Amino acid sequence: MLDYVTDKVQDEARQGEAFAPYASDPNEYKKRFYIESYGCQMNFADSEVVAAILNKEGFGATRNVEEADLIFINTCSIREKAEQTVRKRLTEFRKLKERKRGMLVGVLGCMAERLKSQFLEEEKLVDIVVGPDAYRTLPALVGEAEGGQKAVNVLLSREETYADISPVRLDSNGVSAFVSIMRGCNNMCSFCVVPFTRGRERSRDAASILIECRDLFEKGYREVTLLGQNVDSYYFVDETKDETVTFAKLLEKTALISPLLRVRFSTSHPKDITDDVLYTMAKYENICKYIHLPVQSGSTRVLQLMNRTYTREWYMAKVDRIREIMPECGISSDIIAGFCTEEEEDHRATLDIMKYSRYDFSYMFFYSERPGTLAQRRYKDDIPEDVKKRRLQEIVEVQNRLSLESNQKDVGKIFKVLIEGDSKKNEKEWKGRNTQNKVIVFPKENPELKKGDYVNVKVTDCTQATLLGEIV
Ligand code: 5AD
Ligand code: SF4
Repeated sequence: MLDYVTDKVQDEARQGEAFAPYASDPNEYKKRFYIESYGCQMNFADSEVVAAILNKEGFGATRNVEEADLIFINTCSIREKAEQTVRKRLTEFRKLKERKRGMLVGVLGCMAERLKSQFLEEEKLVDIVVGPDAYRTLPALVGEAEGGQKAVNVLLSREETYADISPVRLDSNGVSAFVSIMRGCNNMCSFCVVPFTRGRERSRDAASILIECRDLFEKGYREVTLLGQNVDSYYFVDETKDETVTFAKLLEKTALISPLLRVRFSTSHPKDITDDVLYTMAKYENICKYIHLPVQSGSTRVLQLMNRTYTREWYMAKVDRIREIMPECGISSDIIAGFCTEEEEDHRATLDIMKYSRYDFSYMFFYSERPGTLAQRRYKDDIPEDVKKRRLQEIVEVQNRLSLESNQKDVGKIFKVLIEGDSKKNEKEWKGRNTQNKVIVFPKENPELKKGDYVNVKVTDCTQATLLGEIV
């Protein structure tokens, strides 16, 4: 899945520039809510659905936690550390609550789903607990909590996709947006908690996705990322038109909105990405040449224990196929170090497949056992922490080298770049991305250019993380 996580993602989101949903007049709304998101892009997209639901009920967003009547924290359970971060934040909110009587705290998302009413009973940290499929009931739950009742809804659904809700863009840069195309996950990767927290896989109505993307384009957005835990298994039957929409078809329909709208997607499961998708990507210039293709491990034995349903060779053949159809395609990965029973030989196979795949980028983790998962029930978490950390370190070192090599190969090349905004370090420079999803920073020079414009940039230098260039 997507990444994930981290306060870094959160910080970047906070630095966004479009403040549309935040009321300028403090009396405009009957109540003010503050929402903080952790975890994957899907979670950030969900927070925008939550904001839309609350807006409709007369609640306005604020980014000042001190002036909020309601605090929501949209949580992640993927690794223990993600949960610890949330707990720490909740204890900070509790202190605020002691000062501000009547303020309510709600836990949303994966941790709410995993821990359910335990949050209300044992911890007394929060007033409202809502799982990922129950956000429509949030206004009613707020009412219950205000009346002093315990407010919980963690029912998972087989149908809910929030298709009819147009998300309120929070902290967006006004150029790129995430659009959720499906929810849940039917893969049973043995390490992963997601099937338990987000339920069964279901695809969103294709027409509603296209309406949302078209609307974004009309509002000036120039890039959409179609989001799902496993986008390649997107499948929607449109009975009104007697049409079956696969992921390849959906990609094509989105690309046809306008050649000026870039289309990205995440995440692909190596077992499901089809030639049809690859050929559709190759056919349309505005479908970005970048695939996030998590490998998790390079050892067939470990992949089997992880229930990934592909072998090392099968994955390598998929990488070959991508490069054959789109030689210039960027590829990134997720990698787990120290899964149950992992031997040095398995670890070396992971380092080796990284080099084979020449990833431009990877999200790298050490294995964190999650309660209720297949791995937790079946296998012992038997790799000592120091070994996990050392292996992770070796993985990070290989990736750093690969990223640098990949960037060095781009020096001298010219890329079409979509301008996303000011560079973080210097407001005299723009920051944008090329089709391969690499960040490029370059001096502004031409005063007529603005965010959302495309510009050709020649790469003159690079670091391991960023390309540096100049407009040509
Ligand atoms: N421990 C460590 N990493 C995990 N991931 C998922 N579950 C775990 C876990 N229990 C990683 C996988 C996945 C990404 C979203 O997070 O690499 O692709
Ligand atoms: Fe996203 Fe939930 Fe998975 Fe975290 S646990 S990465 S929030 S789906």
